[in-house]
Amino acid sequence: MSVVMAPPPTSQQTPLPERYALLSDEACDELIAEAKAKLGRRVVILGHHYQRDEVIKFADYTGDSFKLAQLASQRPEADYIVFCGVHFMAESADILSAGHQRVSLPDLAAGCSMADMANIDQVEECWEALQEGIEETIVPVTYMNSAANLKAFCGRHGGIVCTSSNAEGVLRWAFERGSGVLFFPDEHLGRNTGLKMGIPIARMPVWNPFRDMGGLTDHQIEESRILLWKGHCSVHQRFTPQQVHEARTVYPDIRVLVHPECRHEVVEMADLVGSTEYIIKAVEDSPAGTQWAIGTEIHLVHRLGDRHPDKLVMSLEPTVCVCTTMYRIDPPHLLWTLENLLEDTVVNLISVPEDIKADARLALDRMLAIHK
Ligand code: 13P
Ligand code: SF4
Repeated sequence: MSVVMAPPPTSQQTPLPERYALLSDEACDELIAEAKAKLGRRVVILGHHYQRDEVIKFADYTGDSFKLAQLASQRPEADYIVFCGVHFMAESADILSAGHQRVSLPDLAAGCSMADMANIDQVEECWEALQEGIEETIVPVTYMNSAANLKAFCGRHGGIVCTSSNAEGVLRWAFERGSGVLFFPDEHLGRNTGLKMGIPIARMPVWNPFRDMGGLTDHQIEESRILLWKGHCSVHQRFTPQQVHEARTVYPDIRVLVHPECRHEVVEMADLVGSTEYIIKAVEDSPAGTQWAIGTEIHLVHRLGDRHPDKLVMSLEPTVCVCTTMYRIDPPHLLWTLENLLEDTVVNLISVPEDIKADARLALDRMLAIHK
């Protein structure tokens, strides 16, 4: 079996030139606005909803990971895409954008710990074991939060990518093509979606890549409908059923709204479950006076609170629940990126190797074709 290697998903960021550290916030903002104006339509800045306010205010477009992938494929007029998000999102933008476009991630340390929980060698090993043990067709499905070479793996093996906004539609697509699914790297999104589709938990065992045969018996593997990968989001893992109880005790009318990366015990207690785009819309569409306890990254929750002073918007988790890698993108790194673009220098270029790109694009295009 061929093993395609790709660069590690996250890397170190070299320190910025000293002048960026010395700038005041106001001066930094002014210079960002100036550089952006000079670049005009040559640059498009995409911002994920978890970005901090100081960065998101400069985004031309904001979105969840699905919407940002769509946007990256629809803005060919821009020579440069500056991705204010994390590494796997910038890779997807590179895969989906036109050949002349170049993608930059302002801080290379903006990775994703969940994406790092599955690598190509582990997935190839699992796949080989499944091919030996099972007669039926298995369809590999990777969550968007994964390295490009895992998307390419899915492309090569008749599989597909999903995001938190389309996982059910994608799994339906997969079950039209096979009797089982290998779903990586987020066990929670896979389990929550499978449960919603009526698949019993016993038929969704978890493959642990650090154990022989994933730590599963032959029977468990043969009986599985979705083989989940042992992986999780460190941010969404922190929400608990106890927090839902506590929120409802203090605010009996509160509506609990969580992201599907949360564990299923939390998801099954929630009133609503959906991607970041869904969460924003649910709050926006609710009448004044509605009370919300939200289980997702804190920057989005705070922003929703600021935008809707007529509603109560609070985090389910009483302490701070930050995606520390998203937080790596700050105004000085954005300014550094834009000022270099003025000289046609693309710092932190995210460039997926061509062979990986072609296969990964197959899997992403399959997703884009069936969305919703
Ligand atoms: P969405 O952008 O699909 O809501 O996912 C959230 C997330 O964790 C991104 O890393
Ligand atoms: Fe990764 Fe979780 Fe951060 Fe999303 S919120 S980028 S899944 S660590």
